[in-house]
Amino acid sequence: MITLREILRCPEKYAGQICIGGWVRTARSGKNVCFIELNDGTSFASAQIVYDPALPFTYEAGLETEPVRTGCAVRVEGELVLTPNAQQAFEIHANALHMLGNCPVDYPMQKKRHSLEYLRTQQTLRPRTNTFAAVFRVRSVVCDAIHNFFQRRGFVYVHTPLLTNADCEGRGEMFQVTTLPLDNIPKTANGAVDFSEDFFKKAALLSGTGQMYGEVFALAFRDIYTFGPTFRSEYSFTARHAAEFWMIEPEMAFCDLEEDMDIAEAMIKHIVRETMERCPLEMEFFNKFIDNGLLERLQNVVDSEFDRITYTEAVALLLQAKVEFQFPVSWGMDLQSEHERYLTETVYRKPIFVTDYPKEIKPFYARENDDGKTVAAVDLLVPGVGEIIGGSQREERFDRMEQRCEALGMDMTRYQWYLDLRRYGGVYHAGYGLGLDRMVMYLTGMGNIRDVAPFPRTAANMEM
Ligand code: 4AD
Ligand code: MG
Repeated sequence: MITLREILRCPEKYAGQICIGGWVRTARSGKNVCFIELNDGTSFASAQIVYDPALPFTYEAGLETEPVRTGCAVRVEGELVLTPNAQQAFEIHANALHMLGNCPVDYPMQKKRHSLEYLRTQQTLRPRTNTFAAVFRVRSVVCDAIHNFFQRRGFVYVHTPLLTNADCEGRGEMFQVTTLPLDNIPKTANGAVDFSEDFFKKAALLSGTGQMYGEVFALAFRDIYTFGPTFRSEYSFTARHAAEFWMIEPEMAFCDLEEDMDIAEAMIKHIVRETMERCPLEMEFFNKFIDNGLLERLQNVVDSEFDRITYTEAVALLLQAKVEFQFPVSWGMDLQSEHERYLTETVYRKPIFVTDYPKEIKPFYARENDDGKTVAAVDLLVPGVGEIIGGSQREERFDRMEQRCEALGMDMTRYQWYLDLRRYGGVYHAGYGLGLDRMVMYLTGMGNIRDVAPFPRTAANMEM
């Protein structure tokens, strides 16, 4: 069966008799002529089917002989007629109509505007709406753009494990994985959970980053990236935090923080360019119905250079700001979402890198700067979303890393394999993590992470 996507690429080629299957978006019947707007999922655009009211439907065995309605699955045979003067390039004059799947009148996806909140309760059906068809096709294209960005540059794609025993970010926001009986947990003599009886004979967690494993491969292949699911049990009831999200983590040996940012900037521009090029209908839809300034803003991202400021400069800007922040500003604090948005939306109005954060608010692996107070870490902030990338140059000096771990009271017996990277042929290296879901939010103007994840998981929320 031919797809709409193929036809739309070159309708002239298909003029004549064709057969197509799809779901009915709308069905209208008049005295002299009937219309079906048919979408087969392969394209954002639908096809107009025209037929004579006298033409009978045939039905798949066992189906009820009900009228064609919004939501039905049908097969259409007919003649593709070019309509060069109409809005659509062609229409299909049906000569055989076959019902493959009935749909009752109470089909929840009627042709009208539904709120995004309502659609979140309809996760089985929402991919059939314009908005979600556009979001999820963009998401797929973005993934391809990311892979080809790195593959063309010779980066090796590494699958880092999803089961881990390392809390790399050190924030304790990890899901425990266990086969221990929860109603009868074995305990050691001093009352702690006895993980020696667990599946791995030790505690296991769902990975919150593949970074440490990525570093292992970067110190063998030089340039690598990971691309996979990430889990965090953060109790953040914001529109930008999910408990399960996808992250891309490039890691480069012989790379410092400046080069790290160069690659991040080139990657973001590549993703934006590819998406605008390959999803023109979807992007136009977002610009029209979701976020009016979207296309102009994204074009500006491609054309402009991202600014780079230090954390210390950022704090100075915030202290001069003429707005009241909910969280008071002082050097040493973690930047809150309101601060990030003020910087990127009000002051710079474009993506900005903020670098050199106080070491206390960044993970143990970030490389200490000569001032002894800050580390070579970076966040990329973008208008509308805030932090989209977090990264750093890694501490490659064995002594410094050991001291830092000691100061933080970390149990380093568990991380000897990681320290080995500093013991054997250690070299300066850097990397970052891009949140895929936030990238899709940024590209589409969608304001909630639950509307860019196919099956969102957020705190207190897992529909199906
Ligand atoms: O800033 P984060 O925590 O950095 C890391 O995990 C590093 N190990 C990355 C690295 O250097 N290799 O997370 C990176 C990005 C964030 O900037 C954000 O885009 C996304 O991951 N992210 C989340 N996205 C959705 N929901 C959450 N709960 C997220 N937490 C982080
Ligand atoms: Mg971060």
